[in-house]
Amino acid sequence: MATAIRTTKSPRELYSIAKRLGSWDPESIPVAEDRAHWAALNPDQREQLTKVCALFYEGEVSVSDTLAWFLLAVPEPDRRMFLASQVYEEVKHAEFFERYFEEACGKVDTSAYLNPLYRGVLLDELRQRGESLGRALTNGKNGDLGLQRALFATQYFGVIEGMMALTGYDFFDDLLAKTNMFPRLLEGIRLIRADEGRHITHGMDYIRQMITEHPEYAEPVRELFMKEAAKIPGRTEFVFTPNGLGLDPQRLMAISYQHHQQRMREAGLA
Ligand SMILES: [Fe+2]
Ligand SMILES: [Fe+2]
Repeated sequence: MATAIRTTKSPRELYSIAKRLGSWDPESIPVAEDRAHWAALNPDQREQLTKVCALFYEGEVSVSDTLAWFLLAVPEPDRRMFLASQVYEEVKHAEFFERYFEEACGKVDTSAYLNPLYRGVLLDELRQRGESLGRALTNGKNGDLGLQRALFATQYFGVIEGMMALTGYDFFDDLLAKTNMFPRLLEGIRLIRADEGRHITHGMDYIRQMITEHPEYAEPVRELFMKEAAKIPGRTEFVFTPNGLGLDPQRLMAISYQHHQQRMREAGLA
């Protein structure tokens, strides 16, 4: 069996880093200080920024809820230690947005922003993949467990974190460059982004290892990446309708494709 050559930090090293850097507290960020900035927005600006924050919140809640399936399905102790730190961090990411809605921008029905192009990948299909892992673990017929682990990892670490969330951070960068507003939102995003860097590093290392050890997984993993890349234009259009903040959708869409290509390369597929 071929052995993957590790080019990034090991799960154990990432776990050590997480213990030092992943313990920041959302409660210590005074998010209410952003309230005046929200009050200054016009309705289209408010709608667009609320939409992006709502999608982030819904995504963080969903990944918090589903990662435990994957942790149970992974046999390597070091990966399980890292994934335990990741579950804790995802919960805090959801907490940050929850507090932000409560204290800065006002109560929002975040689920109302779950356009089908987002609901599927972030919530419904991810939960189904998690439940399939659970069934494969408990029904004694776990012949497909390896492939299901690889596909769960691709959807979670490769697509949701490695394409969608990273593009979202660039959206916030553009927002900052354009408005110089929302310092507390951007402070939280900076901390979340640092955590996500570890999650993606670990996740892509896992996918690459799975494909190296099981070359037959390469095609289904590639198919999933390509299926999600085809949704980039529709997802971009949703976030930029309306485009009250006046950001550049073409730039963000190009960034999304770049993240897609980069993750495919890291998986050993491009
Ligand atoms: Fe997260
Ligand atoms: Fe994450």
